[in-house]
Amino acid sequence: MIVLGIAGAVSHDPSAALFIDGRLVAAAEEERFLRDKHAKGKFPYEAARFCLEFAGIGPHEVDLVAFPYAKIGLGSAARWHYARRHWYAPERALLALFNGNRRYRRNMQQLDALIRALDIGQGRPRIMAVEHHLAHASSAYHLSGFQEKTAILSIDGKGEYATTFFGYGERGKIYKLKEFFDPDSLGGFYGAMTEYLGFEMLDGEFKVMGMAPYGDPKRHDLSRLLHYDPEQIRINTELVNVVGVRRYKENGKGYYFSPKLVDWLGPRRVGDEIDDPYVDYAASVQAMLEEAALGLVDHYLGEILRESGKLCFAGGVALNVKLNQRLIARADVKELFVQPAASDAGTAIGAASYAANILGDQVQPLEHVYLGPAYSTEDCIDACRVHPGNPSWRRLEQVEVTGAEILAAGHPLAWFQGRMEFGPRALGNRSILGVPNIPGIADRINEQIKYRERWRPFCPSMLDRVAPEILQTRHPAPYMTFTFDVAPAWRSRIPEVVHEDGTARAQVVDPKTNPRYYRLIEEVEKRTGNAVVLNTSLNRRGEPMVCRPTDALEMFFGSDLPYLIMEDILVTKGNSY
Ligand SMILES: [Fe+2]
Repeated sequence: MIVLGIAGAVSHDPSAALFIDGRLVAAAEEERFLRDKHAKGKFPYEAARFCLEFAGIGPHEVDLVAFPYAKIGLGSAARWHYARRHWYAPERALLALFNGNRRYRRNMQQLDALIRALDIGQGRPRIMAVEHHLAHASSAYHLSGFQEKTAILSIDGKGEYATTFFGYGERGKIYKLKEFFDPDSLGGFYGAMTEYLGFEMLDGEFKVMGMAPYGDPKRHDLSRLLHYDPEQIRINTELVNVVGVRRYKENGKGYYFSPKLVDWLGPRRVGDEIDDPYVDYAASVQAMLEEAALGLVDHYLGEILRESGKLCFAGGVALNVKLNQRLIARADVKELFVQPAASDAGTAIGAASYAANILGDQVQPLEHVYLGPAYSTEDCIDACRVHPGNPSWRRLEQVEVTGAEILAAGHPLAWFQGRMEFGPRALGNRSILGVPNIPGIADRINEQIKYRERWRPFCPSMLDRVAPEILQTRHPAPYMTFTFDVAPAWRSRIPEVVHEDGTARAQVVDPKTNPRYYRLIEEVEKRTGNAVVLNTSLNRRGEPMVCRPTDALEMFFGSDLPYLIMEDILVTKGNSY
């Protein structure tokens, strides 16, 4: 079966994913093509076109389009819960009861327009609408490769109405155990506090998490924000995850927290510095998320975990690597699989995997996330020829050797090769690299390109044969979805990629999935003694990750980076290496 998954149902992170006979062959986020981070309000025309073209599939060959947003019946507890909890905003409450599928219908109209524009199934393909959290759940479970009965967790801001999903998978089928509904949302709570802490929701959550280790979670008691016990969560909607009249407003913009929160905790934070008391608030928010999620997991999934030890996790909150570290630390969790594009972009994969499974395909485990477009060396040279920056380039005999020499000399290196990554992490195909043993390399990368807050950690890619020694575990970690405690002996060897709390969000690289990146790190090891590189995504602050050679050149000339390797060429700005 040929199943095309289309995400874009929740107004951000549209993407497309293509399964052929249960195998994920292509996936990409629309933002990368449009050069517009999160591509808010868009549907994934370019991404879907790429998937079909890459696979050589004509639009008429698509058997089914899967979409991660479904109709919710009036009898569902979801709409009544939403209505009851939004009593203070009666127009929202009534809308949920009397017109609760308005957004679904709007989505279907947009999907219909996309299908016609792409001429899929001659404009009339079969469509399967999959509940949002079932799509998240399927993206984690069906791609995990776990054969045993598997506990499934999905936590995000919200889908249709659901915010949190507990279930399990057995012999390919997903069973729902419990859901929570908006406004009782851990993602909504964290997102609202992300806004209060001065960042953008659905973008700045990583920053709150990065800030948290600098603060003391016990200095302020924020427990009023969120009530949780082993069985349930209840958000204090007088303070966070608020709508309508309860919103705090500033310069015409409304926020998901209330003026009451500002009265209590002080003005919304601004700027890039980490400062009191906000750093402590960030620590409290992170601690509350962890405690609530761990308590609920214990209650709803503990029995399954004690039986099989397998847990899979998706939804935006699954990108919270600190929470994931604590999940792995549970005695009953033997292995955690986090679908690497855990936020809404990943629901294109999830809707399609769910549909493929229902249609009878055996969904294959995720092998890697190099699922986007690739470009040849000739494509890269053509892009150089027409670029107004007048780049110098030369073909390299030994790409990995030259790359390692540049890195070992203490320079950052822009590194572009193979198929673009799907999901938020650069995993060695669209990356900026450095060697983490040279103090100050992270600052240099920040000065030359990223301009990101210094307290946000940079992360390591390391070879599989040294990872157990550095990370003190053999738990799989191919996607930078977990942090681990770095062995004390290694903290001083690779200080630039160890966070304030002694952890690192590592990518463990194996030779099969990314041979060229593996060889590069081997060459780095020969020169520095460490089979580790600092790896951050190839983009400027506020921009999506680079997709095409032209985008790489734009970024390169818009930065002070000295070296760019694209496939087999080394690009410089006139001064030859
Ligand atoms: Fe979601």
